[in-house]
Amino acid sequence: MKYLVVGSGGREHAIAWRLLNDGSATEVFVAPGNGGIEKKYRIDLKIDDFDGITNFCKKENIDIVVVGPEIPLSEGLIDHLENNNIKAFGPSKKAAEIEGSKLFAKEIMEKYNIPTAKHWDFTNKDELLNHVETIKNYPIVIKLDGLAAGKGVGIPENKTEAIKFINENVQQNSKVFVEEFLKGEEASVFGISDGKNVLTFIAAQDHKRIFDGDKGPNTGGMGAYAPAPVVTEKMLDRITNEVLQPTIDGMAKEGVPYKGILYAGLMIDGDDLKVLEFNARFGDPETQILLSLLDCKLGDLFISSIDGTLDKTKISFKDKHAITVVISSKGYPGSYEKGNKISGLDKLSDEVIAFHAGTKEENDDIFTNGGRVLNITAIGDSLEDARKKVYNSINDVKFDGAFYRKDIAHRAFK
Ligand code: AMP
Ligand code: GLY
Repeated sequence: MKYLVVGSGGREHAIAWRLLNDGSATEVFVAPGNGGIEKKYRIDLKIDDFDGITNFCKKENIDIVVVGPEIPLSEGLIDHLENNNIKAFGPSKKAAEIEGSKLFAKEIMEKYNIPTAKHWDFTNKDELLNHVETIKNYPIVIKLDGLAAGKGVGIPENKTEAIKFINENVQQNSKVFVEEFLKGEEASVFGISDGKNVLTFIAAQDHKRIFDGDKGPNTGGMGAYAPAPVVTEKMLDRITNEVLQPTIDGMAKEGVPYKGILYAGLMIDGDDLKVLEFNARFGDPETQILLSLLDCKLGDLFISSIDGTLDKTKISFKDKHAITVVISSKGYPGSYEKGNKISGLDKLSDEVIAFHAGTKEENDDIFTNGGRVLNITAIGDSLEDARKKVYNSINDVKFDGAFYRKDIAHRAFK
């Protein structure tokens, strides 16, 4: 099988690595890829170049395309490929609205009784400002409707902060809503669906804030581990039965069958389970650990999702623990330097895998090329064992401005 993976992050490196390592694929091309992808498999195509991607697939006889990031999904890359008779894994443009429009996701959840926070809709900024005047209990959560790369959510602690967030982020006619603030612990659970059936992954926990102790601004994710103890076996069953399956059923009833990865961002507080958001794709960096623990062929899952045969397929995970720590560029998630040479990758022990994210290769040297640069990943018999492997090796990799969190998986040890 020949695969093309679309994207350039650690997630896409992990998907390519896994497809090759479990025998799902004979060759995996990645467009545009990064410094972790062998040169001859790195395809210089932008993720929004739908015709370029289609022509490449035809020329190379690609069997299956896997689309990593949300933007090409919500712009309809899967539909475009299918219209050209190319098999592609992921949701259609319409189905990807579950991530692209938070209001659409809210409507689905409310219509099909999927547990989520209460919310209040506003169609213009003045209405929202008037509403804020009446709120007594803070914090509140303000969410903008469209894709905003993590910047569409504000959690003001008081009225002054709320007005500031609104004035800085909300346009007069923006679609926006206010949501009740939920307490608890967050977890990420992925389901893979063929439009009808869903298979559930084990739960992971991401670390969104830049600094130790979950302080500082939000990022794409600074590290993750799995399985996350906050999601017990019983809770994972509830997530399948109360969240993932009803969402897949609801989307089918709406005439928008959902195929691909349905990523539920959850808040768990004891027995209380609520959905914070859905994403229409694999999470990054959660994928790096979940695919390290997957104990069946990834390609079989992709093919069953595309062909509608997930009811005849099983998903299984190793009875082990995995952790990944993101090495980022100083300044991220604000502005940061690019083009710094990375050394020490060849010194890393065999006990860890370095998935590349924002890197590029030039004349056999690897340079930084993004905010999140490398994902140092290990599996172990215990979480402590996996964590030691990562933190014992991580300082072998060096570049100017390298920064990482020292407390990934802290919630599992509390
Ligand atoms: P979202 O993009 O909707 O996942 O929101 C980004 C982050 O904001 C989440 O990962 C949570 O940390 C936080 N968040 C979102 N909605 C809520 C809520 N209703 N209550 C508390 N925190 C929230
Ligand atoms: N790690 C969070 C995300 O992929 O959205």
